[in-house]
Amino acid sequence: MKRIAVLGSGVVGQVLADGFLAHGYDVIRGTREPAKLSDWLAAAGARAATGTFAEAARAGELIVLAVKGDAAESVVDLAGVDSLAGKVVIDTTNPIAAEPPVHGVLRFFTTPDESLMERLQRRAPAARFVKAFSCVGNGCMVSPQLPGGPPTMFLCGNDPSARAEVRAILEQFGWDTEDLGEAEAARAIEPLCILWCIPGFRRNSWGHALKLLR
Ligand SMILES: NC(=O)c1ccc[n+]([C@@H]2O[C@H](COP(=O)([O-])OP(=O)(O)OC[C@H]3O[C@@H](n4cnc5c(N)ncnc54)[C@H](OP(=O)(O)O)[C@@H]3O)[C@@H](O)[C@H]2O)c1
Repeated sequence: MKRIAVLGSGVVGQVLADGFLAHGYDVIRGTREPAKLSDWLAAAGARAATGTFAEAARAGELIVLAVKGDAAESVVDLAGVDSLAGKVVIDTTNPIAAEPPVHGVLRFFTTPDESLMERLQRRAPAARFVKAFSCVGNGCMVSPQLPGGPPTMFLCGNDPSARAEVRAILEQFGWDTEDLGEAEAARAIEPLCILWCIPGFRRNSWGHALKLLR
């Protein structure tokens, strides 16, 4: 099994790192300040490690990018474009702007014709980015249990074999998947985060996920 590098000290990084550990993978988490993950490291067991973004990216065979959207490009630089080359990078990020939501509707710093993942792909052209996990709250990312059955995770990225690999991981984590093709589809997937958040902001209801009915 590949060693997973999870870049991110936030809740998404934690949930996905724990999910990969639970499924038998070795995990290294990256952050600018590894000391802040010492409690997690102590609890996570012998297959877990921590390091800087650069150390984690070097050690990981598959990368999960779980950092603040407006810092994602600089984290790609800190991780090291050479360390990402050839590797699958699961991009969980959303381009959420600093301005507050309007009536529960988040604002993005991207435009409808350019997603954050396309920017990241241009920044690290040899990395194999796949958008996934971006359109659901962290509480549902691993083994989602919903009365309506397995929800759908929408994914995209330029490399078909990278998409297939991420699809297999999503299925292992309990997801139905919908492969939407090349990176431009992230222009549609990233805004699903805006949709997903509206019931949360309006009714404090966060326990849902999206499903594509066929
Ligand atoms: N929260 C959710 O339920 C959820 C669901 C779906 C998608 N997402 C997306 O997943 C990503 C992670 O979300 P999150 O809630 O776990 O955490 P977050 O607070 O959005 O991000 C935390 C991470 O961003 C890094 N970061 C912040 N500012 C930085 C800067 N100026 N330079 C370098 N790194 C910086 C932090 O680095 P350090 O470790 O060095 O502090 C940390 O690792 C976001 O893009 C979010 O939109 C979140």
